[in-house]
Amino acid sequence: MKKILLITSLLVGSAFAQVNGKIEVPYIDYKLKDGKNKEVVEANCFMCHSFGYMENQGAQSRDFWYKKVMKMKHAFKAPIPDEDVNKIADYMFANYGNGKLK
Ligand code: HEC
Repeated sequence: MKKILLITSLLVGSAFAQVNGKIEVPYIDYKLKDGKNKEVVEANCFMCHSFGYMENQGAQSRDFWYKKVMKMKHAFKAPIPDEDVNKIADYMFANYGNGKLK
């Protein structure tokens, strides 16, 4: 019994271990292009991942962006309101598009 208590107190103790000094984590700040509906993208797309995921796709069609937003909504359960889906696809196509609808 004593052994269990000792082990438990050791475990609890380490769970509250403190780190002295500042910890720096790299933070990548992505600047979104200014454009219509930028704020809708900011409100819906960055709670799970950064803009890097989107920018790394390269210039893409309107259809591509629409499908990506729908994938986030349905496959990953992103809480994107229906009325915002087209606004986001429009912004991405206007600012990170390849000029092709399909
Ligand atoms: C509920 C969480 C969530 C939200 C909100 C979200 N995503 Fe994602 N997204 C994910 C996950 C999970 C992945 C896949 C990560 C992986 O494969 O490593 C992903 C990946 C992506 C990718 C990479 C390509 C791909 O298909 O995997 C793109 C592009 C993307 N998201 C765009 C968006 C856009 C645009 C929005 C806003 C409309 C958005 N995401 C909002 C969860 C989310």
